[in-house]
Amino acid sequence: MKLVLIRTTINGRRYDLEVRPNMTLLDLLRDELGLTGTKRGCEVGECGACTVLMNGQAVNSCLVLAPQIDCQEVLTVEGLADGEKLHSLQESFLDHDAVHCGFCTPGMLMSAKDLLDHTPDPSEHEVRTAISGNLCRCSGYQQIVDAIKDVEGEKRKT
Ligand code: FES
Ligand code: FES
Repeated sequence: MKLVLIRTTINGRRYDLEVRPNMTLLDLLRDELGLTGTKRGCEVGECGACTVLMNGQAVNSCLVLAPQIDCQEVLTVEGLADGEKLHSLQESFLDHDAVHCGFCTPGMLMSAKDLLDHTPDPSEHEVRTAISGNLCRCSGYQQIVDAIKDVEGEKRKT
């Protein structure tokens, strides 16, 4: 199969890559680049475990083909922290015990980041809508919603 050359930026780092035209972004991240923070769940756009940001918008990376990120910017959960300093969303998830097995957590974090970047003062309804495509089998969602709301609260204080 003929490979496709793409130039892309992932977590602030430039990459020149040759990819199969039918490779998904999820497979590229996990299998080729070792960015395994992005989780592989259903692979059909149902669970949200594979959520990343593409040009600042949450997408299911299992539904994006690798050639589609040519000249685009991708942010994965590995790009959230600033070195040793966790992102405020990650801190809030820890503070609220919003992480149980953790499988859904990277996708939840990325959906939440998209929400807060575009809607700094979301209602609980908006938070729940933003993560409605992210399934969690463990926590019952309330801690996750509270964690996202409290990040917003911290921002309001500053
Ligand atoms: S693995 Fe992509 S939505 Fe489930
Ligand atoms: S913490 Fe286990 S699936 Fe959400």
